[in-house]
Amino acid sequence: MKITLSLIKADVGSIGGHTKPSKEMMEKVKQHLSEQEVLIDYKVWHTGDDIVLLMSHQQGKDSDKVHKIAYDAFVAAANIAKEQGLYGAGQDLLSDSFSGNVKGMGPGVAEIEFEERANEPFVAVSADKTDPGAYNLPLYLAFADPMHNSGLMLAPSMAKGFRFTIMDVSHTDKDRVIELDTPEGMYDIAALLRDNQRFVVESIHSRETGEQAVEVSTTRLHNIAGKYTGKDDPVYLARVQGDFPATGEVISPYAICHYVAGFMRGSHTGPMMPVKVNSEVSFFDGPPIVSAQAFCVKNGKITDGCDLFAHPFWDTVRQKASEKAIAIREQGFSGAAMLPYSELEYGGIVKKMEKLHGKFKLREK
Ligand code: F6R
Ligand code: MG
Ligand code: MG
Repeated sequence: MKITLSLIKADVGSIGGHTKPSKEMMEKVKQHLSEQEVLIDYKVWHTGDDIVLLMSHQQGKDSDKVHKIAYDAFVAAANIAKEQGLYGAGQDLLSDSFSGNVKGMGPGVAEIEFEERANEPFVAVSADKTDPGAYNLPLYLAFADPMHNSGLMLAPSMAKGFRFTIMDVSHTDKDRVIELDTPEGMYDIAALLRDNQRFVVESIHSRETGEQAVEVSTTRLHNIAGKYTGKDDPVYLARVQGDFPATGEVISPYAICHYVAGFMRGSHTGPMMPVKVNSEVSFFDGPPIVSAQAFCVKNGKITDGCDLFAHPFWDTVRQKASEKAIAIREQGFSGAAMLPYSELEYGGIVKKMEKLHGKFKLREK
């Protein structure tokens, strides 16, 4: 059966700062999705202050019906957030009226349409206090590096490698993309993916079958809104097992707790901490967090999720992420601890710098 999985997320308000949505908001979203005949199935969870909707249906990608369901669910949750006096109510809904597609309106979207395999396992990954480039390294390692994906050596079905589609997210009027193949294009891919703020993995396909493995939400809110409205807090779907990496290979790179952009005010560098589903953020509005759930889908019905970072193994990793967070926070605003000027997500510093530049004097040598 041909189905589409739509993973759509938005921050529409949270308790006591940018921490987590309220129980009532979550219930409202679930109730709204339960009333939709177009959906075969759905799951709802939150990652920090972002509500994540996973929906299965047969409407294909970019369906206005499905996007409207998501938009209305977020509006309903934002209304509850307003009633409850929560912080940042409606934050990611950049436009007041729905225009047929939630892409470009604030919410992050990752969708894959495929013919279900006999067994169709997949992983849904969601992050808070970071941007889509945060997934560049974990996706590169999971799909191109035998240090994490032993299947690249051991499984004949992966021997041909994968095709990476990479988007230049600084280009906003049209989508500017490049397709590069592993293994021969690995150094070119690395050359692009090192720049997490500009080049972002959009999708990955198997070269053996042509089937799509991964789709990432590539929205950059500050490119859409033209001003700071929060970090993008990206999501992705990864089909796993068989011709694709195993579930454990897909999540293996998260043991690194690599440093990503985001953290406090979307303007710092922090380690990505793998957390349990429905976690909040805390220290310095972070650290940046990521959660992952594995599911199977059959005729569009989605099983219960397996919370991949709930296992005791990840307690040690979380400890490491905390240590890395403390280490970089020790140097406060200095150098690598903060993002470059172009990535600082608050306009205040621009005005401050303009004022300071006006006070500089030129001195004869
Ligand atoms: C980062 C984030 C928070 C806020 C910070 C200040 O993505 O959401 O760190 O930037 O709490 O929030 P405002 O500007 O809403 O007071
Ligand atoms: Mg927020
Ligand atoms: Mg968020």
